[in-house]
Amino acid sequence: MSTDLKIATGSKAEQYESLIPQIKGLLQGETDWIANLANISASLKEQFDWLWVGFYLVKNDELVLGPFQGPVACTRIKKGRGVCGKAWEQMNAIIVEDVSKFPGHIACSSLSKSEIVIPVMHNGKFTGVLDVDSVFFNSFDKTDERYLKEIIEILEENI
Ligand code: SME
Repeated sequence: MSTDLKIATGSKAEQYESLIPQIKGLLQGETDWIANLANISASLKEQFDWLWVGFYLVKNDELVLGPFQGPVACTRIKKGRGVCGKAWEQMNAIIVEDVSKFPGHIACSSLSKSEIVIPVMHNGKFTGVLDVDSVFFNSFDKTDERYLKEIIEILEENI
């Protein structure tokens, strides 16, 4: 069976609308956490060509680097540190239009200009974040937040 992703063109919403059923297909019947995080990272990176897409997972009270696509990244982030640690502390999504203006932003890559972080919950418990970085300022908005949350819900339904 071919698992090639169909890459959509069009508006951001149209791209997500094309991608989401494909992500559902990729995750269907698969309960392995790492496999699913890896395929979500790869499919988002392939569709949107963002600089970095990946997950940090809570381990021993720190966020530790999980499956990702993009340049090498820092491995551990403490609660309250950087955009990821803040999303954990506040238990909500964070959109950063210009990372240089976000106090405490952790620059894993000097190429990153804007960022979005979405919490990953499992059984009501915070288990990690989906982190996306772009080489352009102001790449992310409420449309990304809405669709990325939908993708995280698909992940949670499959565990
Ligand atoms: N910029 C993030 C760190 C992770 S990298 O972007 C992959 C932060 O400030 O939490």
